[in-house]
Amino acid sequence: MAEIFITRRVFRDAIDILINERHTIDINDSDRILPVRELVKRAHGKAGLICLLNDRIDSVVMDELSSLKVISNIAVGYDNIDIAAATQRGIMVTNTPGVLTETTADLAFALLLGAARRIPEADQFIRAGKFKNWQLIQPQMGVDIYKKTLGIVGMGAIGQAVAKRARKGFDMRIIYYSLSRKESVEKEYEAEFVEFDELLSMSDFITIHVPLTEKTKHMFSTQEFKEMKNTAILINTARGPVVDETALVEAIKDGQIRGAALDVFEEEPSVHPELIKMEENVVLAPHIGSASIETRLRMAKMAAMNMVEGLKGNIPPNLVNNTVKP
Ligand code: NAP
Ligand code: GLV
Repeated sequence: MAEIFITRRVFRDAIDILINERHTIDINDSDRILPVRELVKRAHGKAGLICLLNDRIDSVVMDELSSLKVISNIAVGYDNIDIAAATQRGIMVTNTPGVLTETTADLAFALLLGAARRIPEADQFIRAGKFKNWQLIQPQMGVDIYKKTLGIVGMGAIGQAVAKRARKGFDMRIIYYSLSRKESVEKEYEAEFVEFDELLSMSDFITIHVPLTEKTKHMFSTQEFKEMKNTAILINTARGPVVDETALVEAIKDGQIRGAALDVFEEEPSVHPELIKMEENVVLAPHIGSASIETRLRMAKMAAMNMVEGLKGNIPPNLVNNTVKP
């Protein structure tokens, strides 16, 4: 029996998992992000904190929450949490890997298709009453996808799920760059490991699936865009700051790349105003990678289960900082 604070509105099924274990719940039952002072006040004295990817849980917050044993993030990415600070304080941090892999890969591929075939623009065209007749040289002519080269940056769970779709469904050539080589992936999807600069210059489409770390911040900036094909399309469903958004805007304006499809942004929820204006070559989505009903429910339940195990004194199934002992 412990006290848990949940920072935001979540599914009832997740709360029930905690209540069935006789935990006491306090919840900010709204979609409003709590300012630090309010979050600290509400979470004070609690052993568990369940949070979302846009709650920043840093050392300052942790210093105020000395009773904290488990931080359970409802996301696979955990760049919003200072892991080193948590580890130093003996706080377990958990995330929700796996359950969102296929759903996020679907979205990455949907964005690729949407940008290549200019689907949002075509939709707007019809709604604006502009579809008068079929033309051979149609305003929304896009580019082909099948048999093109897809560069995957970060061949983890989601990167591999995208490779499957691209290779098995669209006969694409897969090249990838990751921290380590993946022999089974190379075999199954005929994927080739290449250096990052080779991937940049060879790909027709580049899809990003790395976590946000000090090393991946602005992994895509002015120089990288210069190295890309001027027909290339960049898809980012990872984290906004992996791409230098100002450099991206310049690269599209200068014709260094054809366009981009983005689910994540550097200063979320703000989006660079120039990207908003680029209706012909940029597709935008409001961080919906994992946003199917089934997957969001699975994520919330997984986060609750992680919390339950951590508070029982067990190693939670999805412990991120595994040097911390319960
Ligand atoms: P994952 O299985 O951990 O895969 C991440 C991959 O990135 C790993 O394969 C890792 O390489 C590679 N990597 C890490 N640092 C790298 C670097 N500096 N250079 C090259 N490769 C690097 O994670 P995942 O489940 O696929 O998720 C990936 C990210 O997607 C998450 O961290 C999250 O930020 C984001 N995400 C976004 C949404 C959304 O809604 N848009 C949904 C889910 C996830 P090795 O395997 O070689 O170590
Ligand atoms: C979503 O962005 C996640 O990291 O789960």
